[in-house]
Amino acid sequence: MSLKSQNPTKTTSWGKLTNHFNEIKDNKMVDFFNKNKQRSKELSIKWDDFYLDYSKNRINKKTILLFNELLEEINLKDSISKYFNGGLINKTENRAVLHTALRSKVNNEIKEDGVDIHDKIENVNKKIKEFSNSIISGSKKGYTGKKFTDIVNIGIGGSDLGPSMVVDSLKFYKNHLKTHFVSNVDGDHVNEVLKNLNPETTLFIIVSKTFTTQETLSNANTIRSWFLGTGALAGDVTKHFIAVSTNIEKVTSFGIEKNNIFPMWNWVGGRFSLWSAVGISISLSVGFDNFNKLLNGANEMDTHFKNTKFENNMPVVLACLGVWYNNFFNCESESVITYSQYLNQFATYLQQASMESNGKSVDRDGKEVNYSTGQIVWGEPGTNSQHAFFQLIHQGTKLIPTDFIGFAQSLHGNIDHQNKLISNFIAQTEALMKGKSLSEVESSGNENFINPFKVFNGNKPTNTILIDKLTPRSLGKLIALYEHKIFVQGVIWNIFSYDQFGVELGKKLANTILDEIENDLSNNHDDSTNNLLEHYKAKNNL
Ligand code: F6P
Repeated sequence: MSLKSQNPTKTTSWGKLTNHFNEIKDNKMVDFFNKNKQRSKELSIKWDDFYLDYSKNRINKKTILLFNELLEEINLKDSISKYFNGGLINKTENRAVLHTALRSKVNNEIKEDGVDIHDKIENVNKKIKEFSNSIISGSKKGYTGKKFTDIVNIGIGGSDLGPSMVVDSLKFYKNHLKTHFVSNVDGDHVNEVLKNLNPETTLFIIVSKTFTTQETLSNANTIRSWFLGTGALAGDVTKHFIAVSTNIEKVTSFGIEKNNIFPMWNWVGGRFSLWSAVGISISLSVGFDNFNKLLNGANEMDTHFKNTKFENNMPVVLACLGVWYNNFFNCESESVITYSQYLNQFATYLQQASMESNGKSVDRDGKEVNYSTGQIVWGEPGTNSQHAFFQLIHQGTKLIPTDFIGFAQSLHGNIDHQNKLISNFIAQTEALMKGKSLSEVESSGNENFINPFKVFNGNKPTNTILIDKLTPRSLGKLIALYEHKIFVQGVIWNIFSYDQFGVELGKKLANTILDEIENDLSNNHDDSTNNLLEHYKAKNNL
């Protein structure tokens, strides 16, 4: 039930894609549009409240057909079935990858220790709902009898980025509780957050799958000391601290009651865990019903992904386009520009989801790959990014395929702003595709010297994802869309997407260095590292 291993570049269809790439790589998208009046219809997908237009890409119908052949040849269908049915596709950690089960409405009859995981998930969701209701309604109170006003999520990586991004994205739907996130081991982060908090009315959620993560435990310990230092007693900790973790022993020894521990699952990776109890800060800040709508939306995207033919399948199409630019055009990065200020954190969230998953250079046989994998993902909201780095996308030397994500309706209903926002959203993709030739510049009557600087080569690829409205449900779909894109790309690149050994080495070395700093041990590193350490120690009189 693991994924089979197949070097994609050795398949027949990859060879055909290479020939096809050589045939069309210099073609202009505008010419494709001029020749085929149906292009935008043919290369777009309308599904539910989503409209994906991928016609502004350097592809034609044949590209899609050839990618289809590749997906048949590597048997993507079989991989999808293993993904949803609990296959041990996270082979290096000997685990299934079942974040989709957290939002599944059908019982997929997967058991863990003899208990159906669907039943386990339902029980936890019930607990999240009851707990959220008790905090939101004020029936559960702090140690001095006051209602909670603030929530602090203490976690890092997947135990921070997903919940933080969703809470921010759904700000419009938020209740009266103020939500804060502490992640960085930088003490200035935790101190800035604590500065404005009242310990009597603040609930702290420690989110750590392992409960061994240095950053999270340091922040949790600092916050507990602060809490006790303000007059609370050790017995009050239990009223103000809850945890989400798999490590019950470590959590209880921190002082948290068993009843206040929400489970995490071994079959859910940190970066895909916002759908689990890790998302309790979401449920607390927008209510369980909205959290449930988020899950439902993701489940709808799961169904679309599982059941739709590849050529009409949004995650599959986005994944193939990513591979097209990464492996054939040799693009190093892709950007994601959200035309909604609410989605301010979306690209940051995607960086972990995508780069921690597909930033791998060893294939499923344990051999070094000889082709490019994981794309660098980056982005910011439009229109701000237009006034920052769009210059490079329009006129720089690098080809940067870009996803434009926008919502047809604004939440506050200000049509004047919305029309301006969406005009920019649409205009940018047109400008990136069409560009402006030298003859067009000349015909505007400019003087000669300045003309070359005003040329836009165009032919820059974009995907446009236009969604009716930002709701918990549509956000759930959007996140799941990218989760499945990441999965499909990992399958094509023949790598294991669900481990993250690459983060271990630095963590280990940091512990060694910390030991040397704290215990004034002699430094035994390279010259550069030794000098940096000495410099630091001197600055702190250590
Ligand atoms: O950075 C590595 C990582 O393991 C992430 O994958 C994970 O989301 C994060 O650390 C936090 O881990 P934990 O939830 O165990 O504290």
